[in-house]
Amino acid sequence: MIIRSARYIKSSTNISQCPEGHLPELAFIGRSNVGKSSLINMLTGFNKLAKTSGDPGKTRTINHFLINDDWYLVDLPGYGYAKVAAKQREDWTKASGEYIMKRENLLCLFVLVDPRHKPQKSDIKFMEFLGMSQIPFTRVFTKSDKMSRDSLARSVREYDAIMLMNWESLPVTFITSTVTKAGRMDILDFIEESMNNFSKQE
Ligand code: GTP
Ligand code: MG
Repeated sequence: MIIRSARYIKSSTNISQCPEGHLPELAFIGRSNVGKSSLINMLTGFNKLAKTSGDPGKTRTINHFLINDDWYLVDLPGYGYAKVAAKQREDWTKASGEYIMKRENLLCLFVLVDPRHKPQKSDIKFMEFLGMSQIPFTRVFTKSDKMSRDSLARSVREYDAIMLMNWESLPVTFITSTVTKAGRMDILDFIEESMNNFSKQE
């Protein structure tokens, strides 16, 4: 998949404000500060497309970016950050939950996980919820440049062990870094494949 163009379209606070759902889209979700917005910039090669910040809670709306005038990448607000006010957490759950459950043109969710932390209950529970709701998703371990190869592998194994208690098989998994650009081609190839399957079904 070659990215020829990437354009910010709009920010929405609920699904009814989102662009018309006539194009396929892929969305990025995960805890605050895990690197969702940064990953969108890395994948597209447009570094200022999605706003990033060292402070958790930067992205607060559902943001649509039109790629190659043909499909959308969607940046979602982060979840599960303890310092975020209860009201904001509630708004997140409502907007993202509705988006995930009802957005018919959503091909796949990328669930981002920070491998520097022990497996988080909120991430595991969230992926279980996606599985039970039959929402297609992949797992993305971010910020791989911040870890040694060994500790990264150990962290992934820990996640796998916990997930395999409840799953027969593991989801498609990517390892990324916005610094080394690790995972970029793998994710773009995966998107291309998803898009091809989508057009075959149409
Ligand atoms: P919210 O919008 O608050 O939910 O956060 P987010 O998940 O969109 O995170 P964001 O992309 O804003 O990144 C958070 C911080 O992590 C920023 O300071 C980024 O520069 C940094 N970051 C993101 N990805 C990477 C990575 O692969 N490597 C390194 N070293 N830093 C990263
Ligand atoms: Mg963000």
